[in-house]
Amino acid sequence: MHGELRIIDPVELDRNVFRLIADDWFLLTAGTAVSGFNTMTANWGGMGELWNRKVSFVFVRPQRYTWEFMEKNELYTMSFFGPEYRKALNFCGSCSGRDADKVRETGLTPFQPADGATAFREARLVMVCRKLYHQDLQPDHFREDWIEELYPEQDYHRMYIGAVEKMLSREKGED
Ligand SMILES: Cc1cc2nc3c(=O)[nH]c(=O)nc-3n(C[C@H](O)[C@H](O)[C@H](O)COP(=O)(O)O)c2cc1C
Repeated sequence: MHGELRIIDPVELDRNVFRLIADDWFLLTAGTAVSGFNTMTANWGGMGELWNRKVSFVFVRPQRYTWEFMEKNELYTMSFFGPEYRKALNFCGSCSGRDADKVRETGLTPFQPADGATAFREARLVMVCRKLYHQDLQPDHFREDWIEELYPEQDYHRMYIGAVEKMLSREKGED
């Protein structure tokens, strides 16, 4: 981890979004140190433009502990890491905050990138997003059968769309 996280404009982001989300994964975090927060690994989602805002969208199954924090809080964050944190991301994606202290187990350092939000200092990119909309995926809207097979327990994701309020990145070449 090198350099300080500094605020950038989302249009300055020079990383490939498919690689960032699908391959590198991210920690989705909601809540605060005061009211309580939780984080989980995610790699379904995206970034783009909607309603004249820069937005992100993320998908959370209802049984995730993180779901409760996504519901209770107006902000969520997406923290992206270098490959040296893969083990931490595997951990946060394989056990629940109901059963384990993910911060203690991973050694990651929570910080407050904005009032009401928590992210991790070790990240090389942090996005703070304000929830604008949510919707539960509806099985009768799937246009191909294989998608339904991803939900043998009918635990359809809740999609959250959030406006990007802040983006923090390390200096180019320093990660
Ligand atoms: C690479 C990876 C990507 C994941 N992506 C998602 C996702 O996009 N949405 C989701 O609901 N769960 C996803 N998960 C599963 C959660 O991270 C996992 O169930 C986690 O234990 C939930 O923790 P929690 O109960 O503390 O919220 C993913 C797991 C991994 C390993």
